[in-house]
Amino acid sequence: MSLVPRHSDVRLIGRSEAIRSLEAELDAAARSDAKVLITGETGVGKEVVARLIHQRSQRSTASLVTLNCAGLPDSLLESELFGHARGSFTGAYRDKPGLVELASNGTLFLDEVGETSMRMQVVLLRFLETGEIQRIGADRVHTRVNVRLITATNRDLESQIVAGTFREDLFFRLNVVRLSIPPLRERLEDIPLLINYYLNFYCQLHKVPTAEVAADAMDALVAYRWPGNVRELKNVVERVVLRTNGQTVEHADLPSDIVRSGAIRPSFGADGRGSSIGATSRAEELSALMLKQNESFWAVIYPPFMSRDLTRADLRKIIQIGLEITNGNYRMLVQLFNMPTQDYKRFLSFLRKHDCHLPFQRFRVVPGRLPDPVPVKAAVGAHNG
Ligand SMILES: Nc1ncnc2c1ncn2[C@@H]1O[C@H](COP(=O)(O)OP(=O)(O)O)[C@@H](O)[C@H]1O
Ligand SMILES: [Mg+2]
Repeated sequence: MSLVPRHSDVRLIGRSEAIRSLEAELDAAARSDAKVLITGETGVGKEVVARLIHQRSQRSTASLVTLNCAGLPDSLLESELFGHARGSFTGAYRDKPGLVELASNGTLFLDEVGETSMRMQVVLLRFLETGEIQRIGADRVHTRVNVRLITATNRDLESQIVAGTFREDLFFRLNVVRLSIPPLRERLEDIPLLINYYLNFYCQLHKVPTAEVAADAMDALVAYRWPGNVRELKNVVERVVLRTNGQTVEHADLPSDIVRSGAIRPSFGADGRGSSIGATSRAEELSALMLKQNESFWAVIYPPFMSRDLTRADLRKIIQIGLEITNGNYRMLVQLFNMPTQDYKRFLSFLRKHDCHLPFQRFRVVPGRLPDPVPVKAAVGAHNG
């Protein structure tokens, strides 16, 4: 009898040196109660590591509570964390406990902590110093809690400190045990292992015969840069499983961007980026994460841009790719890049501030000169600008 693996079974697949030492550090972290900061690009497995630490720790019988700090306005983030008192704002009909309280005796995992505002960082710091919870709108401290804090970010907090956007004192508090997970392209030997693991997983999930991967297809998968790391790999494998339906996965079955970049094995320049001619540009890779994998602009574009990992030219190119799809419609772009519609103003002011607001007129389709059809994720509306 074979059991379909459950999504809740977290596993850290890999045999690279990086993964083996990560396993050891993770075990050590699980034995202690110290705060842990997990760093690494999007999709490398930061949440997996946080879950494993909790599961292997003495707190495993209590809850692990996760909150993603990206994209939430301060007021919401604060009330999510600390709860609110009845009547503290319109619609607050009753007292509501925050996540910190729900994590009592367990673990609180704050994801994307590098996205928090300076004000929120002060609130966090105060909580870490006192352990006290004051619900929003309450006039006194409600309770104290015992929680273990794990944080994660794909940003370079040290350079954010230099840039003045992250508090150094908060950083020192969070960065007690540091676990950093290298991107998949720096641990190539893990790729076939992960491919085979998820191939089995999705074959079982979709009830198709277990498939194999042809050697040249595997070569292309290993050569690909995987900008979205393991998250992207899982997506690709699932799509391929559905397409091949139990047959051997051939080179021709792979998505075109993988085949394209695999045609020339990426050579890494001094900047660590693939520099071979014909390889997909970073702007195209990151756009694909939003267009094909529903990643949000705030999660995959904003952080590397702010940490200067992504250039202004890259960002402009990404906006251009999006506007070509939406015919110059910025409201549509917000949806296309997987942001909530109310982020429209924030998004535009971000683009203006960094001089990346491209004039939409250029992208309006002129009747009779229609461009090649492009996959459109949502209907194109009428408003421009
Ligand atoms: N080493 C690994 N072994 C198995 N699955 C992994 C591994 N790393 C990541 N994953 C899977 O990839 C996806 C993205 O991982 P996640 O921890 O959410 O990444 P991050 O938080 O760094 O963006 C998840 O579905 C996770 O289960
Ligand atoms: Mg994550």
